[in-house]
Amino acid sequence: VFEVSDLTKVLLGPASIELGKRLAETLGAESVPVESKSFPDSESYVRISGDVSGENVVIAQSTYPPQDRHLVQLLQLLDTARDLEASKLVAVVPYLAYSRQDKRFRSGEAVTVKTVVKLVEAAGADSLTTVDVHSDKILELFKIKALNVSAMSAIGEYFSSLRLREPYVFAPDAGALDRAKIVAEQLDAEYAFFQKQRDRTTGAIKTEAKDVRVKDRDTIIVDDIISTGSTIANAASILRRQGARSIYVACTHPLLLPGAKEKIIAAGANEIIGTDCVASDVSRVSVASIIAESLRKIL
Ligand code: R5P
Repeated sequence: VFEVSDLTKVLLGPASIELGKRLAETLGAESVPVESKSFPDSESYVRISGDVSGENVVIAQSTYPPQDRHLVQLLQLLDTARDLEASKLVAVVPYLAYSRQDKRFRSGEAVTVKTVVKLVEAAGADSLTTVDVHSDKILELFKIKALNVSAMSAIGEYFSSLRLREPYVFAPDAGALDRAKIVAEQLDAEYAFFQKQRDRTTGAIKTEAKDVRVKDRDTIIVDDIISTGSTIANAASILRRQGARSIYVACTHPLLLPGAKEKIIAAGANEIIGTDCVASDVSRVSVASIIAESLRKIL
């Protein structure tokens, strides 16, 4: 039987160097560095600086922005490891790019996540693990084994280590309620969600300001992705107006596009915390042990 201890090498994809190292440490595997650069015309170059022949290899490479570059690097690493006669190839892609393009809303639109799945499989992955993917349904597109795990228990653990006063956990929209629930249960806290609406044409977001009992309490807003920051900023300003003592913001994927952090802080949040699914200066929570654990299920 194949076991996690048979995974002997972790390739440190350029988008997930720190996570890859933590994962290698957790698995007791060897880290294999990857050299990467862009050619003057901006084509991607990667080189695996280590021996993978006959090894069972984990390729850690997230595909957060710039998605296309990170995606091509992932494909290059998979295909090269195959060429170099690696045995098993386990793709760890904590942020799966294009997973929000999973439906044809208007005729003629590309369902790009479908293309991504085909490419990852064609490049040689035997299995794939991702984290807090936009919709679980995407996993059904894979012919190889594919698994989605949640970072929320690691986020819950982070907040358990802070001494919060009567914490109250919020989902900034109905879709995030299950995530908020996981964090809240870990803290033995109350939880609730806000109603959010997005204008399909302009992308503008409106959040309904319901009354919540947050006066002088520490609050946490959790979501899967922070992109422009508008979703979280709306929720934070509601909590601020209702007298929350503090507002922590946490997410799995801190994409944090330019201006997002400033928008969230201006809305009244005290701190933004993300995981290492996306390498960023707020990535204080690691998903390495959650991923290592998930690999047991996927082998
Ligand atoms: C949407 O359904 C997601 O869960 C996030 O709430 C959303 O992607 C966040 O985007 P933004 O930061 O641009 O509001």
